[in-house]
Amino acid sequence: MPESLTIRRPDDWHLHFRDGAMMRAVVPYTACQFARAIVMPNLSPPVTTTAMAAAYRARIVEAVPPGVQFAPLMTAYLTDHSDAADLAAGFADGVLTAAKLYPAGATTNSAQGVTDIANIMPVLERMAAIGMPLCVHGEVTGDEVDIFDREAVFIDRILAPLVARLPELKVVFEHITTSQAANFVDGASDRVGATITPQHLQINRNAILVGGIRPHMFCLPVAKREEHRLALRRAATSGSGKYFLGTDSAPHPRHAKESACGCAGIFNAPHALESYVSVFEEEGALDRFEGFASENGPRFYGLPLNEGTITLDKAPLAVADELDCGGEAIVPFHAGETMRWRLRGVG
Ligand code: DOR
Ligand code: ZN
Repeated sequence: MPESLTIRRPDDWHLHFRDGAMMRAVVPYTACQFARAIVMPNLSPPVTTTAMAAAYRARIVEAVPPGVQFAPLMTAYLTDHSDAADLAAGFADGVLTAAKLYPAGATTNSAQGVTDIANIMPVLERMAAIGMPLCVHGEVTGDEVDIFDREAVFIDRILAPLVARLPELKVVFEHITTSQAANFVDGASDRVGATITPQHLQINRNAILVGGIRPHMFCLPVAKREEHRLALRRAATSGSGKYFLGTDSAPHPRHAKESACGCAGIFNAPHALESYVSVFEEEGALDRFEGFASENGPRFYGLPLNEGTITLDKAPLAVADELDCGGEAIVPFHAGETMRWRLRGVG
């Protein structure tokens, strides 16, 4: 077993920075590991236009520690009233990298999301024509669908018909959680990729419910049965270029998670790489980690690979029980655990 691993500097193809003091506190965790990150637009109010994305990007850039090279890649939040011309202009100007589909009501700050995919078909047609990727939160809503089935039902009702109708559209099926999702991605064209989070590779639904309710393990899409976690581990470590790193790091204050109606989201940014690399080690696939973390994402998005490297050492790393983020206590993923790998630094 190697004692250290050096790979091309990676990117995070899906995360939440929030805004204000919280944003300023969490950006450094990501910027010190990743060269770029796809930033989710589900602020309140949501980032729906190119102008809002440009302003948000400037606020993020100000929060990057001096001397650290990091570029936020912005997304626009799609609504029933999105303006295709504005999104296309933002993409052409390099302000927007992608647009994000939140089905209305699916997750945090998604109330203004899309109520019916038919409402955004002209926008999606334009995106397909100009090569602008669509990032998808792939869950249906509605009381009649069990929360553990919402991703699989989304594939049948929304995603498969969409991909059939617009085969040119680049689609990132985000934070996949099921074997059905991996099967769909495997069988789709190379215009369809997927991100996988560290938590969905590490935990199954028992982690949320056995021995008491554990709100810090709750995110959306919710973790599923063990067979699904194993399918995701196979997909991530398969060597397929369709799968890439996207943490879905989603900070919420401790009090908002430990509540009668706790928020969905796991703050994994502080030790995301250590978490992922331990999965690849357990699967005997350390040689495939660089592809997943640093190559497949930029190739899918049509962006250059990063220069520079990072090194992870095989050394114990104690994770804090909680972190102070802009005056709010946040419990990070792996809180209180000792991890087997430790990030040494950016080369
Ligand atoms: O767990 C989640 N948290 N899933 C999402 O889709 C959104 C995110 C958040 O913004 O908190
Ligand atoms: Zn997310």
